[in-house]
Amino acid sequence: MTAGAPTTAPAATAAGAGGRVLDTSGLRIGFGGSEVVSGVDLRVERGEVVGLIGESGCGKSSVALAAMGLLGPGASVGADRLEACGTDLLSSGPRALESLRGDRVAMVFQEPMTSLNPCMRIGAQVAEVLRIHGRANRQEARDRAVELLHAVEIPSPERRARQFPHELSGGMRQRVVIAIAMAGNPQLLLADEPTTALDVTVQAEILHLLRSLQQEHGMGMLLISHDLGVITAMCDRVQVMYAGQVVESGTTGQVLTAPRHPYTRALLAAVPRMRDADGGRLTAIRGQLTDDDRRRPGCRFASRCPSVAEACTAPQPLREVGAGRTSRCWREPEKETTTKGDGDE
Ligand SMILES: Nc1ncnc2c1ncn2[C@@H]1O[C@H](COP(=O)(O)OP(=O)(O)O)[C@@H](O)[C@H]1O
Ligand SMILES: [Mg+2]
Repeated sequence: MTAGAPTTAPAATAAGAGGRVLDTSGLRIGFGGSEVVSGVDLRVERGEVVGLIGESGCGKSSVALAAMGLLGPGASVGADRLEACGTDLLSSGPRALESLRGDRVAMVFQEPMTSLNPCMRIGAQVAEVLRIHGRANRQEARDRAVELLHAVEIPSPERRARQFPHELSGGMRQRVVIAIAMAGNPQLLLADEPTTALDVTVQAEILHLLRSLQQEHGMGMLLISHDLGVITAMCDRVQVMYAGQVVESGTTGQVLTAPRHPYTRALLAAVPRMRDADGGRLTAIRGQLTDDDRRRPGCRFASRCPSVAEACTAPQPLREVGAGRTSRCWREPEKETTTKGDGDE
């Protein structure tokens, strides 16, 4: 891959402090007066994969879109800090955001067909990105597009480059989307449910591809998924979201093997593949996330929590519960207090 575009200002190409490629603090997002993200802190370092999990509607995609400066005019966005690759997204104008996107920051969405132009050949779509960002003339862009298709392991890339999206399988189309994302040699890749629309066997191939590109290029990656198997396979750290707030964070091993928040425990209990083969019953999370939960001054999970108590009506700050670990629940997990002492797993 080529290095970053020489046309961008040095200050804008540098990542944030310590190679931090995504840095949000107190991120708030609202649509039409209803707040859907309430004070999210999120950091991704270069070379690190951070997972964002939580059920549908908890605000994951909104966070990713905000990190790309892609939320439309209908959204209100506020934050103490909202920086991607050293660029302040809150104060940047449309041109600075345009230069950031597809260059230092790229995104892969769930459904490849929505990201691709159905009327344009694959090769031309990859080449277009290279030309828009001033990386290549017409012929160079065409050659480079084939190289990128090859890099995402599309067989016969010269032939495929002349095909239209509908001539490719879903997995191949997602590879094209990844090739487009990689065209700018990004420092940060935002992957929002990148394999959810694909068959299970194809999912594994795409995840493997993403992981190897991430490692090869030392990218930071924010991986959004509701699939805890995907998160386990891919992520160094995890943040669990519920109703617009982060309720737990830590390394993937810590969060998924010794969850501290009742919501994380409920998520794990609801996943078939995480159960032992002779396993216990699957437990659905009772009730649904509602707008009332988002407005609740106390714990937002209280109406659905199996261990709700009087203390849960008080506001629950995100507490440090160990090195690099946080939880938004006042309870100490029973097992850990009796068997392991306080929060040093
Ligand atoms: N453009 C939009 N206009 C209005 N409401 C939106 C818009 N995008 C998302 N929302 C609402 O914001 C909430 C969070 O959505 P989203 O960020 O897509 O969650 P997730 O990705 O976790 O499923 C949902 O209630 C959703 O309906
Ligand atoms: Mg989403």
